[in-house]
Amino acid sequence: MMIKKMLLTTVFAAAATGALAQSKEVEMVHWWTSGGEAAALNVLKENLQKQGYTWKDNPIAGGGGTQAMTVLRARVTSGNIPTAVQMLGFDILDWAEQGVVADLTPVATKEGWDKVVPEALQKFSKYEDKWIAVPVNVHSTNWIWANKAVMDKIGAKPPTSWDELIAVLDKAKAAGVTALAHGGQPWQDATIFDSVVLTTGGAEFYKKSMIDLDPQALSSDTMKKVFERMAQLRGYVDPNFSGRDWNLASSMVIKGDAAMQIMGDWAKGEFVNAGKKPNEDFLCFRFPGTQGNVTFNSDQFVMFKVGPERREAQNALATATMDPNFQSAFNVVKGSAPARTDVSDAAFDACGKKAIADLKEASAKGTLMGSMAHGHANRAAVKNAMYDVISRHFNGQIPTDQAVKELATAVKSAS
Ligand code: BGC
Repeated sequence: MMIKKMLLTTVFAAAATGALAQSKEVEMVHWWTSGGEAAALNVLKENLQKQGYTWKDNPIAGGGGTQAMTVLRARVTSGNIPTAVQMLGFDILDWAEQGVVADLTPVATKEGWDKVVPEALQKFSKYEDKWIAVPVNVHSTNWIWANKAVMDKIGAKPPTSWDELIAVLDKAKAAGVTALAHGGQPWQDATIFDSVVLTTGGAEFYKKSMIDLDPQALSSDTMKKVFERMAQLRGYVDPNFSGRDWNLASSMVIKGDAAMQIMGDWAKGEFVNAGKKPNEDFLCFRFPGTQGNVTFNSDQFVMFKVGPERREAQNALATATMDPNFQSAFNVVKGSAPARTDVSDAAFDACGKKAIADLKEASAKGTLMGSMAHGHANRAAVKNAMYDVISRHFNGQIPTDQAVKELATAVKSAS
């Protein structure tokens, strides 16, 4: 309550001095710093510049947005409020609970967002029936990106089960290629974990363990198998994986120095940005054993309460983001699917079309589930507790049995 009061005071103080801020300026805090991400953001930047807005870029490096969220908290606490912030899932709801985010319901009602934004996203774009975020896209994490020439050279096809995946990784290793391009950062380890949980236990187990935080599921034999498999995958990464940024791992696959990367579909943005084509230069396929299921995350723009002179820019940004043409143009470059159900897949490449179709299928089947790694399964405290155990285990600091035990206890104390 005390924190809420402090935040409200600083936000309103900022609003009062808001006249200093330019009404025609859009300042965006985000973590889209890779080549593909920057290219996608450019679509929005240019769109707003055409409408007479100046773009003030505030990129904060760090995939998954952990660092951006730390910087944001410091800024809001000191009353230095940006126009909008890129945010994920439960972080949006956390900020909404503080009472400091802007109500976008008037724009949303006028433009009929309710009818076109999928239910799974609305869960995070609305709070107490008010629109408090603008969904930009739908990404998903259970993907693999492979270099086609390397796959051809080792005589491998996209694997469809765990055992087939291991067989392909073994072939790559035997051929002297790095089998798995990976960056050892907690959010990247957790991104792999999303897929390993899903393939090992299926959709029901993913829901029970990652979303419902069922203590039995968290400490089950299936979870033990998940950690065993994580350790197995660790055997296929190169010795320099520690701390590597995700886009550098993508680049290893793009260049043919590595066979594949397990990563969300923002990785496609890197391939496309490097001039590579699906099915010619690279292959995209669902993590083996997770076909038909999707672990998703949606980037959304959250606006804070600001003075009236800055609201016009916020509304313009909201309208520009929800524009169906923008949703197509942006997501074609970003690697994600549109956040509206009424956008045609015509402009998308084969991987983009598959992403859109998979989302539809999973949503109909009830197996469209929030990504733990990207803040759509639980609040940040739980997510970070999981990150910690997953990464220490992946780095060989704790054995599997201990990881299973620690996962359950860490989640319990964080939730
Ligand atoms: C975001 C993506 C971003 C990725 C890597 C994810 O959490 O949803 O938009 O490209 O992190 O930075």
